[in-house]
Amino acid sequence: MKKIVALVLAVAMLMCVFTGCGAKGRTLDEVKSSGELIIATSPDFPPFEELDGQDVVGIEIDIMNLVCEKLGVELVIETMDFDSVLLGIQAGKYDVGVSGITVTESRRKNMLFTDSYCLAAQSIVVTEGSEIAAKADLEGKKISVQSGTTAEAFAMENGYSFDAYVANSDAQAALVSGKVDAWVIDNLTAIEMVDAYNSEHDDKLVILDEAMTTEPYSFAFAFGSEDLVDAVSEILNGLVEDGTIEALFEKYDAPYISPDAE
Ligand code: ARG
Repeated sequence: MKKIVALVLAVAMLMCVFTGCGAKGRTLDEVKSSGELIIATSPDFPPFEELDGQDVVGIEIDIMNLVCEKLGVELVIETMDFDSVLLGIQAGKYDVGVSGITVTESRRKNMLFTDSYCLAAQSIVVTEGSEIAAKADLEGKKISVQSGTTAEAFAMENGYSFDAYVANSDAQAALVSGKVDAWVIDNLTAIEMVDAYNSEHDDKLVILDEAMTTEPYSFAFAFGSEDLVDAVSEILNGLVEDGTIEALFEKYDAPYISPDAE
């Protein structure tokens, strides 16, 4: 008998591993009646989310404030590193992953996404005078990326040797200190971080002109939150259509590419 119970438990646990049971996102009603939408964010990704003193600010925080206004709930912001955003969402610990998250087919196996609200791309950043001038020159070189990101997936898929860093700033520092030859990061964040670096240093960083991937940004949710995702998608599409999202990009001086441009 004991053996049978153990076997049933083992099978149940195994099924949980595959189906992600227990990892249930909150429904629209549950969020509305709690009065709060809890977002998970990695605020090292300007202009989408970054720290301004103790506050988290950026395009996606503004978007989430508008979403909360329309849902009639308060925005609650939890900060953590990027890896933890993705894991926390899958586990249903937070309602929304807000981190310049790119929709990918492999991520879709583990979480839900709203419609996307903009398109970005990966950029290569090098130091001034580098012999790397395009993607083809990365062959045999070492690059830095942030762990868990599509830049890391890009490095793996292309067979590049790379170092992955939990913090974006450390991936940048690895390039500056010469530990790596290039840093691969999403284009709009590259512009912000490179500008900030160059304005304070004599040695300069350079962004190469080759957009290498298409990265549709979206917001992530746990399975179980289907109706919440639909509600947020509807709000988001409205904000894209009436020009609010584009105006937010302008507010942060960032070029906007609409999700339909694909
Ligand atoms: N768009 C990339 C991805 O989804 C990078 C996102 C990194 N976000 C951050 N807040 N550090 O993998």
